[in-house]
Amino acid sequence: MLKPPYSKYSRIFFYILGLSKVPQISDPDFIGAWSEDDTVMLFFHKAKQSLIAAICRQHACKIIYEADMDYDDWENGSAITPFSVGNLLVAPAWSLDNADIRLDPSVVFGNGFHPTTRLCLEALIDVLQSGQDSFSKALDLGCGTGLLALAAAQKGVNKVLAVDNNALACQVARANARLNNQQDSVEVKELDLIVQCPDTEVDLLTVNLHHELLVHLFQTPSFWQSKYYIISGFFTHKEDVLLAAMPTDKVRFLDRKQREKWGLWVLQRR
Ligand SMILES: C[S@@+](CC[C@H](N)C(=O)[O-])C[C@H]1O[C@@H](n2cnc3c(N)ncnc32)[C@H](O)[C@@H]1O
Repeated sequence: MLKPPYSKYSRIFFYILGLSKVPQISDPDFIGAWSEDDTVMLFFHKAKQSLIAAICRQHACKIIYEADMDYDDWENGSAITPFSVGNLLVAPAWSLDNADIRLDPSVVFGNGFHPTTRLCLEALIDVLQSGQDSFSKALDLGCGTGLLALAAAQKGVNKVLAVDNNALACQVARANARLNNQQDSVEVKELDLIVQCPDTEVDLLTVNLHHELLVHLFQTPSFWQSKYYIISGFFTHKEDVLLAAMPTDKVRFLDRKQREKWGLWVLQRR
């Protein structure tokens, strides 16, 4: 996340260590870290050879991979700029002050430029502005930066629970909620959806996850309690697998969209 004196990202210094827990780090150039499969990913604004060597000595671990890259290359290969979806203006935290959502994408998923995030944002605005129902509670599964949760809150949803199993994504989503003064509307929880599905008794559920995890959720009966669903993150050639796992007696299709190889479904509970 951005912390003073940093107000934007330039280069990213990325280290993967063979370590199962994120070590304590107090360094002014530290961006953040997460652990994944007995490795730890560490991100800095500047090269940190001696700090990393000290961590490796202290924890008896090795560097598995290190890289120095341009922030835009880490993100999506092009500059992160303001963009609009319908009447919602989203801007990186270091640009426009007057955007509807100001976002620090940090180094986690959800800068708004991936086709699945964009499809979800478009569908979210369509559903919330359709006037066909009232939406007071929403749930965002796999929230990344928190962009979908913030968009729901910005469009009038009073309470949004956003969950992710990535510790840094949760920190970034919380920081983005504060940055947009939505900390009372957007609650963020660190949770592994393979282990637990949160209460889905909401008006709108957004989920942008890979298809294996979607199939797992589809097969969890308690997943099917929301009034509306915006589902993306899957390749269109996997739709048959998802359809086979979907309880068609519980939900019906409202919309289906495709961008590049990615699909999106909008469903409504019967
Ligand atoms: C494709 S990104 C979507 C991010 C954001 N919602 C968006 O639309 O841009 C998927 C997110 O799900 C999270 N995720 C993956 N597996 C998960 C799991 N088992 N439990 C919870 N979150 C998970 C990832 O950490 C990542 O932030």
